[in-house]
This record gives sequence, C-alpha cells and structure tokens, in this order.
Amino acid sequence: MAGEVAAAAVIRRLAEGFEPRLGIVLGSGLADVAGTLQAVAEIAYADIPGFPKPSVPGHDGRLVLGTLGGLPVACLLGRVHAYEGRGYGAMATPVRTLARLGCRAVHLTAAAGSLHPEWSPGMLMAVRDHLNLMGGNPLIDQPDAHGADRFVDMTAAYDTELMARQHRAASQAGLPLAEGVYAALLGPSFETPAEVRMLARLGADAVGMSVVPEAIVARQAGLAVTATVAITNLGAGLATSPPSHQETLQVAGTCARAFRTLLTAFCEDLAGSEIFGT
Ligand code: HPA
Repeated sequence: MAGEVAAAAVIRRLAEGFEPRLGIVLGSGLADVAGTLQAVAEIAYADIPGFPKPSVPGHDGRLVLGTLGGLPVACLLGRVHAYEGRGYGAMATPVRTLARLGCRAVHLTAAAGSLHPEWSPGMLMAVRDHLNLMGGNPLIDQPDAHGADRFVDMTAAYDTELMARQHRAASQAGLPLAEGVYAALLGPSFETPAEVRMLARLGADAVGMSVVPEAIVARQAGLAVTATVAITNLGAGLATSPPSHQETLQVAGTCARAFRTLLTAFCEDLAGSEIFGT
C-alpha cells in the first residue's frame, strides 16, 4: 500500500469526520503558530505510518488537526530536511497524505537567509518562485509516480491566486510582506559569502534548505502551493556576524506572532472562498 494511504487511514480513524482543506508545514522555530489552532486532534509523527522523525532542534514531529480562521487545516509541525540523510523525499509521505485527506492546498513555511543587505531579520517573504540548487529531487526513482505525472509542471508552482489572497490578508492585517525567489541549497552548512553573491546574481532573494522538495511533491499530488519564509538573518558575508542555527530559531520565534496573524487572516479569506469553503 502506498505510504499515504496507510497514513491517511490512521489519521482518519483518530479524527473521524474531520476534513482538512489546507495543509500547513511549520518550519524552524515556528511551531508556536500551531497554538492558534482550535485543535481537534494531535498525533505524533511516530504514530503515523511512513511519517519521518525530525532530528533537528526546533522541529517537533507532530500533526495537529483543527480550525484556523474558520478553515479546517492539517498542520505539520516540523519537517525532515534532505540533509538529514533520508533522501530528498523525506517529507513526501506527509505531503501526499495532506492531499489524500482532502486538502486543496499546502502552505509551506521556513526560515531563510536574505540575499539583500538592506532586508532586516524578522521580515516575512512570500515565495513567488524557486531555484532548486539542492542537487536532487524528491521524485527520483519513482517510476510509478504515485499514479501521477512523473514530469511535473513547475511553471506556476506557487499559486498566483492564493499568493494574491495572502498579500491581501497581510495588508488587511497591517503586516509588511515582501515577495521573492527562494533558492534551496542542500546544507546543512551555511553558504560561503561567494555562494551568497552567486545566488543574488542568479536572481534569488532568499536562501534556505527546505521548501522546494515539498513544493515539488505537492504539485505532483495536485495541491496548490504557497510558501512564506521568515528572514532570520542576512546571508553569509552580508552581516557582521555569521549565521547560526541558534539565531535562526531565536529570530524565527520572534516572527511567530506575525505568522499567526498572517495565517489566520489568510485562512479566514480562504474559508470564505468557493474552493475552500465548507
Ligand atoms: N542559509 C540557509 N538556510 C537558512 C539561512 C541561511 O542563511 N537562514 C535560515 N535558514
């Protein structure tokens, strides 16, 4: 049985009758955002078949089901990154499970470094597009493609209508929200200053070590994708102090409140829309 079928069956048994419409993946230091949910059920990844166990501090490994801004959501607290050694598809089963549970879209969040010296840590950036510089792809070695297209179209990977709704929600909530291109590198070492200069020249605005594999799997599974990253630091060489994971977690924690406000306003907007309304 495909992993997501077994996983969805377990989740459905534990949250009978609950049908999430939006999946949310909470990245480094952002688990607090889940506190905003009116939770219906909470399940450890360890209790869901095929779900991976995160090994990085700041990544919980829990699925919380509940409503946010009136919208039924499934919130994945914590992710496994490709650099943790379980492949580029480490989050494939959780993402496919969201689709299987009835989600129409997934909203990915993460921490990222800025490639603009004038950007300040603490700001949020909606992802308009990405550069996959990880050196791998979550769809490698899957000839059956989970019943979907192996050659996934990534032309409009980040949904333009949902992004417009997100910008509207941000401005209604009085939150500044930048927009840009996210470059994903494998990590876990941070970039060199030369790499940061290269990424800026390639047209990226922010750099991180996640988002992209999940966006690819989600598009293959037919989910619309949006992503927002918390800028936790300036890229290596752009600031006086070097980046660190501790700083990432600390600054991401200070963004949690803005994320809560933004996500609640976004979900309220989606709950009132035709495709998401229940
Ligand atoms: N580089 C890569 N990933 C990151 C960074 C960074 O500077 N900050 C937070 N995640």
